[in-house]
Amino acid sequence: MIDTEHSSAKPKLLIIEDEEEIRTQMKWALMEEYEVLVAGDRLNAVEMIKKEHPLVVTLDLGMPPRPTEVEEGFLALSEMLALEPLLKVIVITAHGERHHALHAISQGAYDFFVKPLKIDELKILLSRAFYLSHIEREYRELKQRAFDESFDGMIGTSTEMEKIYASIRKVSTTDVPVLIVGESGTGKELVARAIHRRSLRKDGLFVVINCGAIPEALLETELFGHEKGAFTGAHIQRRGRIEAAQGGTLFLDEIGELTPPLQVKLLRFLQEQKIERVGGREEITVDARVLAASNRDLKKAAAEGSFREDLYYRIGVVIVSMPPLRDREGDIPLLASALLQKYASETKRSINGFTPQALLGLESHSWPGNVRELENRIKRAVIMAEGRKITPEDLELVSPFARYGGGKLKEAREALEKDLITRVLKSKNGNLSHAAADLGISRPTLYELMQKLGIAKE
Ligand SMILES: Nc1ncnc2c1ncn2[C@@H]1O[C@H](COP(=O)(O)OP(=O)(O)OP(=O)(O)O)[C@@H](O)[C@H]1O
Ligand SMILES: [Mg+2]
Repeated sequence: MIDTEHSSAKPKLLIIEDEEEIRTQMKWALMEEYEVLVAGDRLNAVEMIKKEHPLVVTLDLGMPPRPTEVEEGFLALSEMLALEPLLKVIVITAHGERHHALHAISQGAYDFFVKPLKIDELKILLSRAFYLSHIEREYRELKQRAFDESFDGMIGTSTEMEKIYASIRKVSTTDVPVLIVGESGTGKELVARAIHRRSLRKDGLFVVINCGAIPEALLETELFGHEKGAFTGAHIQRRGRIEAAQGGTLFLDEIGELTPPLQVKLLRFLQEQKIERVGGREEITVDARVLAASNRDLKKAAAEGSFREDLYYRIGVVIVSMPPLRDREGDIPLLASALLQKYASETKRSINGFTPQALLGLESHSWPGNVRELENRIKRAVIMAEGRKITPEDLELVSPFARYGGGKLKEAREALEKDLITRVLKSKNGNLSHAAADLGISRPTLYELMQKLGIAKE
């Protein structure tokens, strides 16, 4: 990769020019600002691109073996761009060869310059080319980083999410059932898909069935299939979703919604890998890995008797517990900007960020609907936003400043101080020294403020 980090090193410029005199003249004029590399023919030029990775190139189209023709120059252009698509090539042509210059640009050159050389003008052109090159590379790195930091489409670098990624890595190499629990919208299905994708069954199907969304009367045949004539209307034999997952993964979403009789049937499948279609007598062996999800507390449901305890223990050999979004330190802005990028480019709207108030609003909202809620609010905001930045109103979030408004400055300040101190104290488990350090004040000052504002000491 290109090293653009050391700003102390001069950026690399390659001059491709067959006339030695011009080459030397250019080198002298530009070596103060750039690390100037030179090449006299195509092979040398390509070699330099491979070895030195210059960001910008000046290319005299007339090259040996026939310096009066331009073929060799065009060949060099295409070979260099094939090696470095982001390379900025400034073509240098003789007076009266504008058509060559334009053709070069249509072939991917960045700009052109007509001889005789005026160094000052060339310098301006060069500095613009380098500037653009840096921006493009920075953007490419940023995109790459966002990609690297996501785990199978899951965005988040909080310790809570790192633990989830670690669990996924561990369980995906095994065949044990996994129960994924967590509030609605926390990404349970994404986790199930990631486990499948990383498992040995990745070439098999990932079959989803939402036990809560299918009417009770249909769920049994959906899961287990039926034989022809099993009931009125069963004109043909049908295979169920469990069979469909043969060799792959079966994801039972909202498993807590299964009725007791179906819980029994499912348990049998989990114990023996065998099912019977509705109305059938034949036992069918199915090799499918089972993953399940629930936002109900199944352990409690099992204790209370609404969910079979034996099934709970079968299905929950491993439990992955999704953290609510509000507990993922630092993930909200990361997710928000990734989602904004996604929806802004989908709708081709040039929205490039959030106002500071919107960011504050995002951070202080409690996110009962977790990532799905964040996704929906941003989708909506991208459509509604009138400016280039998203506001709390676009997100339908109350501005965190709203509750400080309307009053006098002194009251607003005290309300804000009280809020902030209470929050920091809570995050430091009531430890005054730590809270004071976080707030940038001394411990006695904090104590005084707490008394003045009526904040109870834990
Ligand atoms: N970490 C994440 N990064 C990016 N997108 C996410 C993340 N977590 C969830 N999402 C997105 O949020 C939405 C909800 O995720 P998902 O359907 O997996 O949640 P769930 O826990 O199954 O929700 P529910 O309980 O409501 O079924 C999806 O569109 C998903 O792509
Ligand atoms: Mg779901």
